[in-house]
Amino acid sequence: MPHISLKNLSIAYGHHRVLQDVTVNIPDKQITVIIGPSGCGKTTLLKSLNRLLDLNEDVKVTGDVLIDGVNTYDGNADILALRKKMGFLSQRPYPLPMSIYENIAFGPKVHRMSKDRIVQQINDLEGRMVQVPSKKNGQMDILVESYLRLAGLWEEVKDRLHTPASRLSIGQQQRLALARALAVEPEAILADEPTSALDPLSAQLIEKQFKFLKKNYTIVVVTHILRQARRIADYVIFLYLGELVEHGPAEKVFDNPSDERTRAYVSGEIS
Ligand SMILES: Nc1ncnc2c1ncn2[C@@H]1O[C@H](COP(=O)(O)OP(=O)(O)OP(=O)(O)O)[C@@H](O)[C@H]1O
Ligand SMILES: [Mg+2]
Repeated sequence: MPHISLKNLSIAYGHHRVLQDVTVNIPDKQITVIIGPSGCGKTTLLKSLNRLLDLNEDVKVTGDVLIDGVNTYDGNADILALRKKMGFLSQRPYPLPMSIYENIAFGPKVHRMSKDRIVQQINDLEGRMVQVPSKKNGQMDILVESYLRLAGLWEEVKDRLHTPASRLSIGQQQRLALARALAVEPEAILADEPTSALDPLSAQLIEKQFKFLKKNYTIVVVTHILRQARRIADYVIFLYLGELVEHGPAEKVFDNPSDERTRAYVSGEIS
């Protein structure tokens, strides 16, 4: 489990400062929700955690993003290892242009996971020694099934694993994206408004998965839906105009906030 903490983190795009001096510890194996008005820096903060910000040329980062005590913005940081550790789920699912099965198998193949490692992974997932059929791709078949189950999608797709993933509904694609992210064995899941493209029922399924997954993963979710934040958050970070105004256990931030701006935001007076 990675321990994630931010120390005096400031981020600017060119001359535009978007985050100022953010210091916070993100608790392990809990759901941390980042809330705040549009443009306050939520996505920027989330992307700083696995260096997705690097895709912007003019971004300037100062301060530390410490993952297991190592500053990821240190010149020597292993960015690929970091991104594997910190799975990212975007607002809209982007299935790879291949079958449902191949979408899950892709990551383990790219990372050249050995057959023994795959069997180990299945056993860890299932919490028991699983009998792997000796046919070709036997391990991968079970691995794909295990992750689709873990993401709550198996029952809906088990009869059409070899059809294009693009034919799934958006809600199913989002759970597929979750299964795909989990299949490369991340330790944390970073999700940026993961239900904003979904209908309420699909959104509920994703929320349910997060609550189930937090037993084993550290989860950080950005949402602008306050009701969703209340449903899933163990810990809350409230950003306002690039400043971390308040952070703490969900009940405290929602029901007894220390800062007037937090109170106004969670009560819906400002948005
Ligand atoms: N690549 C970029 N180049 C320049 N400015 C950017 C870039 N990305 C974001 N910004 C600006 O940084 C600020 C914070 O953006 P960010 O996307 O982090 O906000 P957010 O809280 O996620 O907002 P929303 O709720 O609308 O998604 C905004 O003013 C935005 O316009
Ligand atoms: Mg955003």
